[in-house]
Formats: sequence, structure tokens, C-alpha cells
Amino acid sequence: MDHFLYKNGTLHAEDVALTEIAAQVGTPFYVYSTATLTRHYRLFTEALSPLPHLVCFAIKSLSNVAVLKTLGNLGAGMDVVSGGEYLRAKAAGVPGDRIVFSGVGKTREEMRLALTGGIRQFNVESEPEMRALSEIATSLGVTAPIAVRVNPDVDAKTHEKIATGKKENKFGIPIARASQVYAEAARLPGLQVVGIDVHIGSQLTELEPFEQAYLKIADLTRRLRSEGHTITRLDLGGGLGIPYTRSNEAPPLPTDYGALIKRTVGDLGCEVEIEPGRLISGNAGLLVASVIYVKNGEGRDFLILDAAMNDLVRPSMYGAHHDIVPVMEPPVAAPTQEFDIVGPVCETGDTFAKGRDLPLVAEGDLVAFRSAGAYGAVMASEYNTRPLIPEVLVNGDHFAVIRARPSFDEILKRDTIPSWL
Ligand code: LLP
Repeated sequence: MDHFLYKNGTLHAEDVALTEIAAQVGTPFYVYSTATLTRHYRLFTEALSPLPHLVCFAIKSLSNVAVLKTLGNLGAGMDVVSGGEYLRAKAAGVPGDRIVFSGVGKTREEMRLALTGGIRQFNVESEPEMRALSEIATSLGVTAPIAVRVNPDVDAKTHEKIATGKKENKFGIPIARASQVYAEAARLPGLQVVGIDVHIGSQLTELEPFEQAYLKIADLTRRLRSEGHTITRLDLGGGLGIPYTRSNEAPPLPTDYGALIKRTVGDLGCEVEIEPGRLISGNAGLLVASVIYVKNGEGRDFLILDAAMNDLVRPSMYGAHHDIVPVMEPPVAAPTQEFDIVGPVCETGDTFAKGRDLPLVAEGDLVAFRSAGAYGAVMASEYNTRPLIPEVLVNGDHFAVIRARPSFDEILKRDTIPSWL
């Protein structure tokens, strides 16, 4: 459920008409709903209760500091994968002891940053990384809490580019080598083993892969404990999928996911951490664009929008589907037309949808891409020197621009001319 509904014939974000935001900030823009973010975060905390737990929002899915502050104020932890994301979490006021640091290639610089600023745990993904962390922690005279990310070799049954839990993926250490790696971790100075970490992929639409992975983690917990390690936390990753269409998709609900967690690892006496991104942010955001032209081509009609693949790359990168709807509510049984919906970027790949039925729209009309809150703004680029588009946060009947559109002046100023030119 989200809070983007038609009211009096106009699509609203909560109680704000998208036409009002468009008039003030121009298009295209991203808009997020506080009520939806809040609701989705709470679904997880409710699903995991009464287990001791921390829901760490995967910042990579939507990293605007205002959004992080919204979730942080509710008590959310954060899952970061870079020094930049760590600084965003801190800028949002999230204390270090609610931040977990994931990722296969943490630099020594990033380790130092997190160790000095405060960190709940590093999810370590390889032996060389573990040794580097030991070295840095020792040099700073501190102890780094760690969980080792294990790769359970489970098929997440999702898009190949976002599956992470198969043995051929670059993530984690093979579960078969876990005993050896934990033994080394216990020997290394400056490290304190606190738990185990696993994440098998994103946009999972079935629970079964989670179940397979979590059962393996439960076994591993018992084994590592019998080998003398203290395992008090299990970080079970993110990845629960969302519906991208309004029709037949029904991915499992957080309540089912919570029940599965309790069933598989609930009796181990561990604190459970999860790292959901998309389920919290995905359906909490829209991308709103204007129709620049309606172009009649050879056997097909194109809707040319002012948003492009640089603003929302998911359709061209993963062939992802986003529902696209007119902002002005069409009358019931209004005639529709089939369009290829495209942006102005000079690549055929700049296509959002092919042969999509839309109610008749005209130049200047506004359309909204649903489910664009996750991996939308964060993956945007300035390709074709198109400025990053604004982000807007709605809360009830008011809204604020939480990232402004840069001027061309600001963009051009970032390039510098060397002395010989
Ligand atoms: N934790 C780790 C270690 C991750 O790598 C990810 C996502 C998450 C948590 C959050 O997963 P989520 O709950 O959002 O599924 N750009 C792609 C998705 C990439 C996901 C990368 N890792 C897309 O647009 O579909």
C-alpha cells in the first residue's frame, strides 16, 4: 500500500496534488511519501517483534538525508556500503551504533572513517578485508566488531544482475570455508566477532530462497558456537521484493517474512538485523515527468517525456517495469492509446516502456512513474548534461524540496580548465 492516490481527479502524494509540486519545482522530479516510508519501516519492526532486532535501512536504495532522518527518527538503523553513505547516515543524526557497514571493497580510508565515527559492525566479505580491518583497528587502538558475510550458494530466483548469493557471485566467503575464516578472525588483533551476515539478492518474490539461506545460517551458528565463537547477532540482509504492477504480482508480505525468520533462526537467542531497502523506499516514491511531444512514428506512437534513462535507469539497465500513469485521472472507460514511452537521450536504450497502453495524453500533460523510490534518484547521472532532478518529500499536506535542481552554472563550474588551455 502507498499514499499516492487520485483525489478530486488529480494524483496526490498524501494530501498534496502533484500538479502543485510540478508548478513549484518544474518537471521532472522525484517525490517521496513520509507516511509510506513510515508504514513500510513499521511493517518490518512489527513482523520481527518480539525478537530483539534492528531494521537497518539499505541507504543505497534511497539516500537523501531527509529520508534517512525520517527513518532514523523512528529508530531505524542504516546499512551503508561506502564512506559517503556512512557520512549520510551520520548527517541524518543516526548514531554509529545503529550503522552496519557492508560491501566487498571497503577501503582502509573508509574503515578508519567508520572506526573513528562509531560503528555497530562491519560485515566483512573476505580474508584480505578482514586482515586490513585488523590492521587499521589496531593502529587506532580500537576493536572492530565484525560479522562475516557468508555466501550460502542459494539461487535467489531474481534478475541475474541483482542475485548475490550464488557461489559464482563476488559476495561473501563460501559457507564451506566459514570455520577457517572465523578461526582466523578470532586470532587477529583488533577484531571482535559478533555475528554472521548473509544477503542473497534483491527483488526476491518468493520466500523459499530466504528459507534455504537462513536454515544454513542457523546450522552455521550452532557450528561456530561449538567451535568457541560468540555469535550474538545475525544480519539476514535485505531483498524482499515489491509489486511493480498493480495487477497480479503479490510478493510475500513482511509478516510472512518475519514469521519465516522466527521459524528458521528465532530459537538461537540472537539479535536479528535485516537490511531492507526497496521494500521501504520503492513504493514510497514516484518520478513525475511531462510529455514534451507526442510523435507519430512508423506504425507506432512515441510519448517523448522530459525524464530520461539518466533519471531512472532501471528500465534500460534491467528491463524493469514501472507502471506509468497520468497525473490527471482519466475518466472511467476513457479511450487508450498504445505508446512507446521514451526520453530525450540520444540512445534507443532510452526507452521506458514499449507498446504501453495509456489514456490519451497530450503535450504538457504530467505522468507519474510508480515504484520509483528505490534505485531511482540514487542511480541517476548527468548523462547528456541533464541536471540531476529535484527530490521532494511530502508529509501530510505539506512538502519540501529535499534536493534542489542544480543550475547549469553550477554544473559547468565543476569542470576546470588546465593551465595549458
Ligand atoms: N544489503 C545488501 C548487502 C545489499 O547488497 C542490498 C542491495 C540490500 C541490502 C538491499 O536490498 P533490497 O532490500 O533493496 O532489495 N539497483 C538494483 C538493485 C540493487 C540491489 C543491490 N543490493 C535495482 O534497481 O533493482
